[in-house]
Amino acid sequence: MNSKNYVSAHQDQFLSELKDFLRIPSVSTQEKHKDDVLRAAQWLRDRLLDAGVGRAEVLETAGHPVVYAEWMVNEDAPTVLVYGHYDVQPPDPLDEWRTPPFEPTQEGDDLFARGASDDKGQLYAHVKALEAFHETEGAPPVNVKCIFEGEEEMGSPSLEPFIAAHQDLLAADVAVISDTHILGQETPSIVYGLRGLAYVEVTVTGPSGDLHSGHYGGAVHNPINALCAIIADLQDKNGHITIPGFYDDVRELTPEEREELAKVPFDREAWLKEAGVPTDWGEPEYTIVERTSARPTLDVNGIWGGYIEPGAKTVLPSKAHAKISMRLVPDQDPETITELVAEHLKAIAPPTVDLEVESLHGGDGAIVDRESPAMQAAVDAYAATFGREPVFTREGGSIPVVAAFQNYLGLETILIGFGLPDDNLHAPNEKFNISMFYKGIETLIHFYKNL
Ligand code: BES
Ligand code: ZN
Repeated sequence: MNSKNYVSAHQDQFLSELKDFLRIPSVSTQEKHKDDVLRAAQWLRDRLLDAGVGRAEVLETAGHPVVYAEWMVNEDAPTVLVYGHYDVQPPDPLDEWRTPPFEPTQEGDDLFARGASDDKGQLYAHVKALEAFHETEGAPPVNVKCIFEGEEEMGSPSLEPFIAAHQDLLAADVAVISDTHILGQETPSIVYGLRGLAYVEVTVTGPSGDLHSGHYGGAVHNPINALCAIIADLQDKNGHITIPGFYDDVRELTPEEREELAKVPFDREAWLKEAGVPTDWGEPEYTIVERTSARPTLDVNGIWGGYIEPGAKTVLPSKAHAKISMRLVPDQDPETITELVAEHLKAIAPPTVDLEVESLHGGDGAIVDRESPAMQAAVDAYAATFGREPVFTREGGSIPVVAAFQNYLGLETILIGFGLPDDNLHAPNEKFNISMFYKGIETLIHFYKNL
């Protein structure tokens, strides 16, 4: 039996294992799920051992553990470092899920569950590709190392130190990550650019305690009103960010890049429908594809304060809070941007309130080499599975480890993703297309062989 037949013959078993993985609520940002995160790591280690990988272990970090595995088959063969993350986003808001987030549910060709696409399903395709080699050819044609992280969705606080401290262990020739999506089931694509991120939490304090809004209202500045005015000031009507210096380091798109991005198949009506919006918004001088991948952003991710329970309460609150994140593009530095934003927020805060900024996390964006032999191996692998050459795209999301691999290990990454644009990442009703799971395994088998 060849590896491709092995995959076809074991589809049901692979799917049922993926469901087991998805039942573990490994939400990294919530303390109450700490044991579940560990359980997911141990489960993954055991499946790697089952797949025939020689060495697999759960390694401690300052936070959630890393699952490390190694299958060295031939000194002269190239070594691939596979990265994935076994943690997931919180499932909230729960009442918008049509099926329970941690009870994987099959509907047609889709599997609904938190983490189905991001990133458990895509990560598990790698484990099953390795198993297929083990069961049919004894071993993969290249050396494989795996590093599976449990803190990606919280900004990978422990990963950089882990990579810095384990440079020899992680030494490889190329890194591979399946944590992105292709353009459509019939339209394979490879991501060559990712955005970075700077994330802050802002707290505005007005009076030292909550006040009666009738007794004091009109003479005490309400911190929620003040915060809203501050936020409204950060962007103009066309979506340009007004923080001085914010765009200074932005690497502008070259005319050639713009021409290339214009060739990426894009259906505006379908995009509006997918996003569920009446029309688009943002910098009018850039296309939607450019705005969502090669331009920086500023978004409020959460805002709260005052009375938010049912009914009315006439309160003049003491505090207002907002979580604000900025997607960055090469060559914006997350730390520089965080400082710039913090200074600007303090500068524009009125003297009637106190404003504090806490940095939550950041990550570098990245552009990867499109000319390498490994990239060609990926192009050929998609072409073999999908019968069509992939196009190159840039992605608006962030995978900060790509820059960390470049900086610490001198490794280029191949982003060989199998998600679809409507997978509802980080949202209710996340799903993974089941055919994409199997095609992903097949593509990875081709990729390893091509290498
Ligand atoms: N898989 C995503 C990255 C991604 C998003 C790829 C959308 C393709 C399309 C990844 O798990 C993710 O969500 N990353 C975070 C990183 C952040 C917490 C530093 C993100 O982009 O918000
Ligand atoms: Zn992910």
